[in-house]
This record gives sequence, structure tokens and C-alpha cells, in this order.
Amino acid sequence: VPQTEDDVDAALPRIRTSGLVELGLVEKNDGGAVAAKVDLRPYGWECDSGADNSGSGGAELWVSSDLAAHQQPGVLRHDHVLGIGQASTTLVQTTIRRHSKRALDLGTGCGIQTFHLLHHSEHVTATDISERALAFTRFNLMLNAEALHLDPADLESRVSLRLGSLLEPVAGETFDLVVSNPPFVITPRSAGEHSSDQFTYRDGGLPGDDIVANLVRTLPDVLAPGGTAQMLGNWEIPAGSRWSERPASWLAGSGTEAWFIQREQVSPELYAETWLQDASEGRDRKLYRDAYAAYLQDFASRNVDAIGFGMIWLRRPESPRPGDAPARFEEITYPIEQPIGPHLAAAVERADWLDAHEL
Ligand SMILES: C[S@@+](CC[C@H](N)C(=O)[O-])C[C@H]1O[C@@H](n2cnc3c(N)ncnc32)[C@H](O)[C@@H]1O
Repeated sequence: VPQTEDDVDAALPRIRTSGLVELGLVEKNDGGAVAAKVDLRPYGWECDSGADNSGSGGAELWVSSDLAAHQQPGVLRHDHVLGIGQASTTLVQTTIRRHSKRALDLGTGCGIQTFHLLHHSEHVTATDISERALAFTRFNLMLNAEALHLDPADLESRVSLRLGSLLEPVAGETFDLVVSNPPFVITPRSAGEHSSDQFTYRDGGLPGDDIVANLVRTLPDVLAPGGTAQMLGNWEIPAGSRWSERPASWLAGSGTEAWFIQREQVSPELYAETWLQDASEGRDRKLYRDAYAAYLQDFASRNVDAIGFGMIWLRRPESPRPGDAPARFEEITYPIEQPIGPHLAAAVERADWLDAHEL
């Protein structure tokens, strides 16, 4: 809600309205009222040292991102930087947290996964294709330097922010842990489209579910032996096939251990509605109708009957083993106790024990 300049100055006497305008955090509207240009909200978590094996406790942060769809008029800008959403916290709670030397957050957005990784990783590399996203992450790291135990004068000793697509910025490097909430939303492609026409926060610019397929195939290249990757994803389910067939085909011959958990399966119609609403595209009726038709046509062109959503765990084995690596495909569509990370960790440990004892 826009406020008078006097009230803002009284509430924030050190930085005052003029400082906030200079930082691009607020703007003065025609009537002289001060309006927010970004979202800034508290975010915190608690954990006892046993829960995430990090010995770190929790944190209380202030996190900035672009204003959400309901906080501004019109369709979202294409380079919108997402705040902390349901998918972000799902990945946070799914991640198996152990001490790691080097962790990677691919597609960092406002930095949410990086904040958590910093609590149990010696060094975190956060990448994004969007300069705006990396600027928000840097801002959030500086703003929360104390709570995150960072030295603002020497961020680089704990965090490296890299601009670039997918694994380009980290080619040739390896990590113990990779997390990613990638731009997995399936989007109809159109002839001559430019990357600036795409919603960067959710659209990887590839056809169908290729972005997820690509990451499942290539992420193991940046994993140290025994290293794991955890991500969220969508997969297309062609008519007449089981949901796991496509994900299984991405692993064929890779030697990567995998665990896919499908949490939800929706029709092409519901998928189109969900994602068109997400960017407020319904506020432009013609855009909505055309985009809805394009979605249905796109799915029909690949004979896609349904779209699955879920969590993906990948591990590069300590040493290559003959034959296909174990892959597990499970469907869990009922509510699960969060955080699920410690339960996943225990299940992996049990499977490893059985494997080691050849039972
Ligand atoms: C769904 S958001 C996730 C943001 C945040 N990590 C979270 O968990 O909420 C996906 C992020 O990936 C970034 N992105 C899009 N295309 C990318 C690409 N080709 N390579 C790297 N990052 C990309 C977007 O800019 C966006 O910040």
C-alpha cells in the first residue's frame, strides 16, 4: 500500500525515501505517495542440528524479489524474478542436507536454495541465466550477511554468483551436491520467438520437457563421485505409456543412480490453465485464448495425454559399476510429512546397506 514520504522517512530514518528510490526499491507515484517496486518479506526456518546434519540451527532473513502477480497490474514482465514460492520450499524440504564442500544452486532466482545450502556447505556456486536474478541474489546475500555468517566484504570466499545457461558457467567443475528448481514449465514454442518473449523464471526455452531431460542427462557430469543432485521437474506422459517410461529413457546407459517421485499428474487442459494463470495471462483475454489453444495443440502434436510433476534425486556412483545403475520410480500423490529430506536420506542409506551386504 503506497505510503506518504513522511511516514516512510519516519519508519526508515537512516535510509529514508531518497535512499530507497536510489536503490530502486520504491518509486514515487504521481500523487507523491511512495510505492514499493519490489517485494521484501521475512523468511526463516528452524532446525535442530540433528534434523539436517548441518549443526547449524535456523535463520531469520529478509528476502527481496519482484512484486508477485497479485501485487501489480497486467501480465508479468518476462524477466520477472520469482519470490519464495511453493515449489521453492518443496525443494528446500526435499533436499538431503549433509555437510558438503562444494554445492551448486542452478537457477538461483532470488537465492532461496543458496541461503539453505550456505548452512551446510563450505562453498556455494549459484548460477542463473538472468542478470536481474543474480542481482537480487547478491542483494539478498548482502542484506542477510550477518544471519548467513557471510563477510559482506568477501562474499566470494563462500559464494560464487555466475551468469549463464544450465551447466555452461560450471563446465569442468564438480560438486558434492547440486540443487535446482529449474525453469521446467512446458511451453508451446512459436516460430521466430526470441528469448526475451519467454518468462525466464519458468520457461527454459526448449520444446516439451527437454529442459528436464537435458538436466537429468547432464547434471551427473558435474557431480563428484558419490555426489547427488536434487531437482523438481515435469515430464510428458504420451497416451498409452506409463509415467515412468520417459524419465527412465533419459537415464538409459548413463550409469546414474536415480529416484523419481511423481507427486501429481494433470491433464493438458489443467496444465495450460495453471500456468497461464501463474503469469496473470488471463488479464489479457485474447492472449489467454490464443495461448490456451497453443498449449493444447502443442501437447497433441506429441500425443501427450498427461503431465507429471515430481521430485528427482540423482547420484553419481562412487565408482562405475557394470550394467544399469539402480533407478526407482514411485508415485506418491497423498500429502507427505515435511521436511521429507531426512526420510529420503534414511531410505537411501537403507538401500545402500542392502546393496553393500548383497541381500
Ligand atoms: C523456477 S525459478 C527457481 C528460482 C529459485 N531457485 C527457487 O527455488 O525458487 C528458475 C530460475 O532459473 C533461471 N533460469 C531460466 N533459464 C535458465 C537457464 N537456461 N540456465 C540457468 N538458469 C535459468 C530463471 O531465471 C529462474 O531464476
